[in-house]
Amino acid sequence: MKVRESDIYVFSGTGNTLTIAKKISEVFNAVGIKAGVHRIEAVEPAEINLNSTVGIGTTVACWNTYPMVKKWIKSLPKADGTEVFLFDTMGDSSLRMLASIGKELEKKGYKIIGSKDFVMPNNFLLVESEEKKQKKLNKTIPLVEEFASSIISEKADIVKGGLIYSLFFAFTSFLVNTWRWKLSQKIFGFKVDKKLCIKCGLCAQICPKNNISIKEFPVFNGMCEICLRCVSFCPAKAISSRLLYKNRTHRGVMTEEIKWRNSI
Ligand SMILES: Cc1cc2nc3c(=O)[nH]c(=O)nc-3n(C[C@H](O)[C@H](O)[C@H](O)COP(=O)(O)O)c2cc1C
Ligand code: SF4
Ligand code: SF4
Repeated sequence: MKVRESDIYVFSGTGNTLTIAKKISEVFNAVGIKAGVHRIEAVEPAEINLNSTVGIGTTVACWNTYPMVKKWIKSLPKADGTEVFLFDTMGDSSLRMLASIGKELEKKGYKIIGSKDFVMPNNFLLVESEEKKQKKLNKTIPLVEEFASSIISEKADIVKGGLIYSLFFAFTSFLVNTWRWKLSQKIFGFKVDKKLCIKCGLCAQICPKNNISIKEFPVFNGMCEICLRCVSFCPAKAISSRLLYKNRTHRGVMTEEIKWRNSI
């Protein structure tokens, strides 16, 4: 069926996936297809618009995605053929997690019309130089435009899985879930440097899990899913973690964009 309007629901820890979602909506809008971008963390699954072409985008985390996104997808209402396209962003490899997410949606009555992984700057461990990041973006953005156009022309490719990938997805689902254990949080260890912190409260404001409370200084509670948003966007670089090789962080968008809560 031709795309007439689209609603794109996106989770993005540090802005890469948001950049892709906005690019897709730009391509749609340019040919007169009204496309809105909504944050997964701000939309109740039951409230999604089943009458439009739905886009779902998320970050690859441990060859899987964040439990909050999986929970959101699991809670989506049953559909009667609503068309969905899927996309993710990754540093280098997703091991076809979109195939497993697609299968889950098909069981609920959605029809997958396209899915694609996009390579974007790595936001942890091997955070690249600005030059390398730009090179990745220059390669990826035309592919996003191509993908969006292929959705419009009903010729988009779909990521295919198989038994091995499904088993791997089940295994990585288990791993990702362990991040919410208190022990894991200790291992990843986010720490606020009280000498650097300017007590602006931004980290608490932008955490998608509401995991940070501000006492005198920010305090991390036990619900972190390691999206790295707080670490990356802290204006004082006051939050550190063992996950950050050489203390490098990545911002895929401007701070104002990551603060955005509503739809655009
Ligand atoms: C905790 C964590 C785990 C990650 N795991 C993977 C991975 O398994 N494969 C990969 O290619 N990139 C991985 N990445 C990198 C991100 O997928 C990549 O940088 C992505 O574009 C970030 O998107 P975002 O800014 O929208 O959150 C991981 C990042 C984080 C923070
Ligand atoms: S964002 Fe950084 S500077 Fe602001 S309160 Fe949080 S840790 Fe402190
Ligand atoms: S505490 Fe930081 S890394 Fe953890 S979920 Fe919140 S914003 Fe993301």
